[in-house]
Amino acid sequence: MDERRESVQKRAHRYQPRNADRGRILYNVSMEPRSFGMTDLLLGQIDRAIKVLSAPARARRGAPEQPCEDGALTDAERKESARLMRVNHAGEVSAQGLYQGQALTARDPDVAAAMQSAAADETDHLAWCESRLRELNGRTSLLNPLWYAGSFTIGALAGALGDRASLGFIGETERQVETHLRDHIARLPAADLRSRAILEQMKHDENLHGEKAISMGGAPLPLPLRVAMRLTARLMTRGSYWA
Ligand SMILES: [Fe+2]
Ligand SMILES: [Fe+2]
Repeated sequence: MDERRESVQKRAHRYQPRNADRGRILYNVSMEPRSFGMTDLLLGQIDRAIKVLSAPARARRGAPEQPCEDGALTDAERKESARLMRVNHAGEVSAQGLYQGQALTARDPDVAAAMQSAAADETDHLAWCESRLRELNGRTSLLNPLWYAGSFTIGALAGALGDRASLGFIGETERQVETHLRDHIARLPAADLRSRAILEQMKHDENLHGEKAISMGGAPLPLPLRVAMRLTARLMTRGSYWA
């Protein structure tokens, strides 16, 4: 029995594949380089959308240092905090859609990489808002699929206009988000220190995203477009506050 095993091992050892065969033999599949077509990209985006909308977000960074005292919140305050954090969570779902759409159509690899990096920060924000909502016994917005799909389309269109316009769009979006967060920080119940700490860190990050986009060559947007963006954002914040 041992002899037979030894002879099989020797035969296997003696066999040296030709260089051209090595990849095919080791992996038992053809290793021809694969090109990704439109269908692959589309399936990848659908997969991404499903994850954003239905799976718990995973943060790279821990949530900002949060005071642990929540006991001072009355029931009415807790409900108000949950509504505000639902709006912010919906905003982060939209940010995922925007950045994914823009990265898909970005032309310069540096611009695409900067967008992917900002999108990773947005995933942190999404995870922080999600966990804070859970602590407040709140729920996410029923309209999130709508916000994601709309934002993805707008992002892809902005990206298709060219990198300067796309970066300008990010600069303006982040500027408006920062203003919105400042307003929400002021509206949070005074005792909700944990939500406040999260929003402060998000505001800081959004500011950096906007500055980076402008420093990479973002063009200023025309006034009518800026107004249209503000109106769309208002629709989104009102809708997510109630639904
Ligand atoms: Fe964000
Ligand atoms: Fe951002």
